[in-house]
Amino acid sequence: MLDKHKPVLLQESIEALDIQDGEIFLDGTLGGGGHSEEVLRRFPTTRIIGLDRDPEAVKRVREKLNIEIRVENFRHLDKVLEELEVRKVDAILLDLGLSSDQLETSGRGFSFLRDEPLDMRMSNEGIKAKDLLNSWDQHAIELVLHGFGEERDSRKIAEEIVRRRGIKPFETTFELVEAVLKVKPRSFRDKIHPATKTFQALRIAVNEELTNLEIGLEKGFKALDANGRFVVISFHSLEDRIVKNFFRDKVGLGLAKRVTSLYSARGNKPITASMEEIDENPRSRSAKLRVIEKI
Ligand SMILES: C[S@@+](CC[C@H](N)C(=O)[O-])C[C@H]1O[C@@H](n2cnc3c(N)ncnc32)[C@H](O)[C@@H]1O
Repeated sequence: MLDKHKPVLLQESIEALDIQDGEIFLDGTLGGGGHSEEVLRRFPTTRIIGLDRDPEAVKRVREKLNIEIRVENFRHLDKVLEELEVRKVDAILLDLGLSSDQLETSGRGFSFLRDEPLDMRMSNEGIKAKDLLNSWDQHAIELVLHGFGEERDSRKIAEEIVRRRGIKPFETTFELVEAVLKVKPRSFRDKIHPATKTFQALRIAVNEELTNLEIGLEKGFKALDANGRFVVISFHSLEDRIVKNFFRDKVGLGLAKRVTSLYSARGNKPITASMEEIDENPRSRSAKLRVIEKI
């Protein structure tokens, strides 16, 4: 399988992580291994511990990087560190969401542009997207679309889903796209595909992404040594809000500080991709990087 994923905000992440040779770096979201590879290239004596909940991602990275790797959800990072007898780490990166490999070649139905089985699980665990759509009650589906997709037509889409599954249960992505398009036909005014928010919402629900993030932030911060850096790259507002509030609370409690060299020029705003990077890698368009340093 092609190694397609381009790491986002690579230079900025490396600067924000502020790793020194010989330190311990936890990459909680290995993906294509892009960030870890760069850390290893620049700081060859760093001990890198890499996690990904997707066994296929882990398999690919194992083939190219000689680092310590586990198939694991970062919500269980404490367990991994305990097993490795690592008490504290010096830097943590969570580069959230999906890799291009998952979106484009996994065959698991993450994209509304490909007709694939409606699975959407990053790992092999939990409920598949089609089972959620075929079994949850209408109101629960509406809440998912509204809460995790900020979808304004959540009620009508949930209604259409329940109507259609009564005739034939959902199996594929295009069946879901059709249901959404019935409620929201495509218009030349659309900036995004009408199914974008529905797909985002389902993926977040299936993978419990927001809960994982909240737990991962708490456990990660606990595992961080004094002066250690926590860097998170998020791709939508729900995630970014969680990260922003978590970091603000730690700073407010005097447990962490903002990283002034990175932030002084930008006020308290997250770091975003340059026009050059967006041109080269459109996926970076919505990326927001935040960093704090533990005291
Ligand atoms: C955007 S990619 C990371 C890309 C990577 N930084 C690179 O440059 O190649 C996100 C990865 O995080 C993984 N992931 C998402 N949520 C996770 C979680 N809770 N625990 C572990 N891995 C997770 C996904 O499976 C995916 O491979």
